[in-house]
Amino acid sequence: MAQLNVITRDGETQTIEAQSGYSVMEILRDNGIDELLALCGGCCSCATCHIIVDEEHKDALPPMSEDENDLLDSSDHRTPLSRLGCQVPFTEDMDGMTVIIAPED
Ligand code: FES
Repeated sequence: MAQLNVITRDGETQTIEAQSGYSVMEILRDNGIDELLALCGGCCSCATCHIIVDEEHKDALPPMSEDENDLLDSSDHRTPLSRLGCQVPFTEDMDGMTVIIAPED
């Protein structure tokens, strides 16, 4: 199974098993990363699943929709590598990717 590294808000790194077919948000949530509130449940309407992906894997991610882009614009912590975790379906191409949980807005 593929692996996903996550850096939590206190700077701790955890490596979790990640399965294709689930969004990065679902994988983080199901592995007990509760900093990622994901309040809307993945409907792309809350931005509480904000993550920052690593440079190396950014091209493995699908293009960003207008809705995702607009929501990320509402964050004070947006970076060029920001994404909403619920809008990123995990694939094997993302094996070894590191995501940072963005600071809370
Ligand atoms: S869970 Fe709400 S936008 Fe991703």
